[in-house]
Amino acid sequence: MTDYLPLPGTPIEELDTPCIIVELDVAERNIAKLQSAANEMGVDVRPHSKTNKSPYWVRKQIEAGAIGVCCAKVGEAEVMVEAGVSDVMIPNQVIGKNKIARLVALARSANIIVAVEDSRNVDDLSDASVAAGAELGVIIEVNVGMNRCGVDGNGAVELAKQIDAAPGLRFDGLMGYEGHTVAERDYEVRKTEAEKAMGILIGAADQIRGSGIDIEIVSAAGTGTYNISGRVPGVTELQCGSYIFMDGDYLEVFNDFEPALSVLSTVISRQKEDVAIVDMGLKSISMDRGLAEVISPASASIIKHSEEHTQVSLPDAASRALKIGDKVQSRPTHGDTTINLHEYYFGVRNGKLEQAIPIPGRGKFR
Ligand SMILES: Cc1ncc(COP(=O)(O)O)c(C=O)c1O
Repeated sequence: MTDYLPLPGTPIEELDTPCIIVELDVAERNIAKLQSAANEMGVDVRPHSKTNKSPYWVRKQIEAGAIGVCCAKVGEAEVMVEAGVSDVMIPNQVIGKNKIARLVALARSANIIVAVEDSRNVDDLSDASVAAGAELGVIIEVNVGMNRCGVDGNGAVELAKQIDAAPGLRFDGLMGYEGHTVAERDYEVRKTEAEKAMGILIGAADQIRGSGIDIEIVSAAGTGTYNISGRVPGVTELQCGSYIFMDGDYLEVFNDFEPALSVLSTVISRQKEDVAIVDMGLKSISMDRGLAEVISPASASIIKHSEEHTQVSLPDAASRALKIGDKVQSRPTHGDTTINLHEYYFGVRNGKLEQAIPIPGRGKFR
């Protein structure tokens, strides 16, 4: 199969569409900004690759000072380890024989840390790790109020004792993702709620230490709480992911980081004066968090998507000048689910393609 990729130096207007554009300067600034904020707060950065799905960006984050990467799934971790990333945390449960076998296989060539909440899962991980001759790092996921996965704060001590004693496993600490707070628009409410969540996590860490077991890692935070949870004494590292590109949804929360991501499309039909049809649809832009914002032409807006088409409203003379073949650029409301649809980012600087960046983690949801 041939990928018809444009050559470096191609102007944005000539890129084949639909495609994801990343403003490289902007993404690089976002990476540097989170790292320097973390340095100043005295915490590590272990960015979540569920956003970027790409070893290229993970390398940039590690070059900037990140200690490793988070991966949502074993498949994503396999992509990163194969690309040479040597420190991978899966802040998520890995359940089932097949996945656990793949996980411990990775632990033979990289430092792998996985989250747990269940005693039988700990036994399964221990058996597989011993059989593979591996050492697997394990952290306990604590439910800090998001009510997704994780034991409640008081349930962590018994599990920590079990992990600490389990052959093939190394007890590393705790994680708690305060996902219910990261998108809260009001900073003071976000701060109060995130601090409450971190209180549960730190309380669980204190109980475990009180039982005589050491803890190295207390991992937490999303983009919206990087500067809140990162300041809570006892939190050792940040798991932020979206900060790298910022999407439309996060820009509604704050502008601490700058938007770097857009989807470029081409006008393919112009039957009505006030509507253009572009070649981008649900297979190239997600709308699980609402319709994207059209950023160029600025006055245009999206009416609706179908699989491969989008109707764009053209309210004024400037936008109605759009012709067949012209480009429309839109900022997705949810970057992660849009990126997961694409094989490449087109990384641009000063309006020209610098390089096509592969996204080998896309679709790796097993
Ligand atoms: C476990 C975990 N950690 C961290 C994050 C960070 O996310 P973001 O920076 O995109 O808010 C997420 C997001 O889904 C997550 O699931």
